[in-house]
Amino acid sequence: MAAAKRIGILTSGGDCAGLNAVIRAVAHRAIDGYGWRVIGIRNGTAGLLARPAEYEEVTLDVFGGNALRMGGTILGTTNKGDPFAYPMPDGRILDRSQEVIDGYRELGLDALIGIGGDGSFRILRRLAGQGGISLVGIPKTIDNDLDLTEVSIGHQTAVATATEALDHLQPTAASHSRVMVLEVMGRDAGHIALTAGIAGGADIILVPEIPYRLDSVADKIERLKRHGRNFALVVVSEAVKTEEGEQLVTVHIGGKPTYGGIGHYIGDRIAEATGAETRVTVLGHVQRGGTPGARDRLLASAFRVHAVDLIAAGRFDRMVGWRNRDVIDVPLAEAIERPQVIDPAGPLVRTARGLGICLGD
Ligand code: F6P
Repeated sequence: MAAAKRIGILTSGGDCAGLNAVIRAVAHRAIDGYGWRVIGIRNGTAGLLARPAEYEEVTLDVFGGNALRMGGTILGTTNKGDPFAYPMPDGRILDRSQEVIDGYRELGLDALIGIGGDGSFRILRRLAGQGGISLVGIPKTIDNDLDLTEVSIGHQTAVATATEALDHLQPTAASHSRVMVLEVMGRDAGHIALTAGIAGGADIILVPEIPYRLDSVADKIERLKRHGRNFALVVVSEAVKTEEGEQLVTVHIGGKPTYGGIGHYIGDRIAEATGAETRVTVLGHVQRGGTPGARDRLLASAFRVHAVDLIAAGRFDRMVGWRNRDVIDVPLAEAIERPQVIDPAGPLVRTARGLGICLGD
């Protein structure tokens, strides 16, 4: 059994609700349970690139008792700056992976817990392989696209936020006889749209996994009108393409493009086809911040305890996960082999169809 005494922890990729709850739980399990020291690395792998490496020791009182309730990550994170293809200020792309590994060594760590999504795990696994780092992964992503776990930290709070947005949109839609389009995040997986759409009473849900036709969408709105409904709620996932197959993106000055724009496209097409007055809400990063819901706090705590126990047992290159009401662990390599996307024949799609929700096909 590996007797790790000093373990590192970093948050990587886009933030989400529940990350501080994870950091808190590791502190309890590692410090209280095993008598280890916990080193919190700042800003993901960026903290290991800095010289000296940027970190702070995580102690039991670091949060003042508030960690469970806090959104974001006290350690900071980044979803850019892949150390294997690092963009330098002068435009060159350099492999700086060895510097990250040297930073890890500088901290004298015995093992590393990475809290990330598929992109982060790909990078961390490569670093671990190259540098002999003992790595355990904890899944977090509002998109819920990591495979082999039913759910990742952050997803359920994002779904609750999107559901609440629909709760807020419905009364104003009904008051003004409007079609309200809500664009939600999710990258290439439509889990947030489908789950929040069902929970929030959407009439139409468009996800990247199910191709849609605009005339089906317009038909649904006409049918609602014929049945006396004066409003409609439409949820569209950000990666849905235009009917012609174009992927719409938002270009950020000085940053990488992200998905965005499909909400306005769908809203305009609905207005043209049906004459309905249409408004569009792009929910954006509201889905990432905020207070973690009860389920994300629970997952964070359970995952972290299990991850620390994996280190104690000397079982590395594994990701913890949730399946059948239990915490499990799986090979990290298998979890990132393919994304978990919506099964068009799966239970939630069947539920949506059973409720008469139009999925655009
Ligand atoms: O992967 C999480 C996520 O929030 C996606 O849903 C979204 O497309 C993306 O990150 C946004 O990235 P950024 O924080 O760079 O705008």
